[in-house]
Amino acid sequence: MVDKPFSQACENNKQPILEVLNRVLADRQKLLEIGSGTGQHAAYFAPKLKHLEWQTSDMPNNHLGIKAWLDEAQVSNLHQPISFTVGTNDWPLGNFDAVYTANTTHIMQPSESKLMMELVADNLPHGGIFCQYGPYNFQGQYTSDSNAAFDQHLSEQGCGGIRDIDELVTWARPLNLIETIAMPANNFMLIWQKR
Ligand SMILES: C[S@@+](CC[C@H](N)C(=O)[O-])C[C@H]1O[C@@H](n2cnc3c(N)ncnc32)[C@H](O)[C@@H]1O
Repeated sequence: MVDKPFSQACENNKQPILEVLNRVLADRQKLLEIGSGTGQHAAYFAPKLKHLEWQTSDMPNNHLGIKAWLDEAQVSNLHQPISFTVGTNDWPLGNFDAVYTANTTHIMQPSESKLMMELVADNLPHGGIFCQYGPYNFQGQYTSDSNAAFDQHLSEQGCGGIRDIDELVTWARPLNLIETIAMPANNFMLIWQKR
């Protein structure tokens, strides 16, 4: 029996995120989550989005923790993690018509973030939706002093750092950024659609 990993941030942001997902994923059928982390988000969202098959993924070292959350959730539309590391693995098979990722873009190196945007753009079908949650910069500016301090911390940890929305827009073509939703704690939910 593995102790479930726990993220306080996930506890704090799961309800506001669910409110967005409920609306923008209402007509989607099969979703790939990139960087499921602890598995908390998937275990919370999938039982409330029963119309959607929710495929978790992450690097193998996170799988045991994700499985622990999924085993407890016990819902048939929530699927055990597959190994997917952007920059290492090919896009997973599965005909996903939606992708969700939270707090991964600033962890990845810029080349990996760029590749993630390109892979999502290449592999979503027309009409497909990509929900991308996290901190972002606007026109080269931090949205808060706390995000500037966080970016400094990310740099010291060797992470890629907070990306600018304009940069993501360039990388994501032919995805269109259809909504930029302000979320608690100086985060945003970016909603992209392939048209
Ligand atoms: C800060 S955690 C966020 C986890 C979770 N989504 C959340 O919101 O709590 C960043 C996650 O991104 C994953 N990650 C980092 N680099 C990645 C890559 N190149 N491809 C896929 N996942 C990656 C990590 O393994 C980790 O689970």
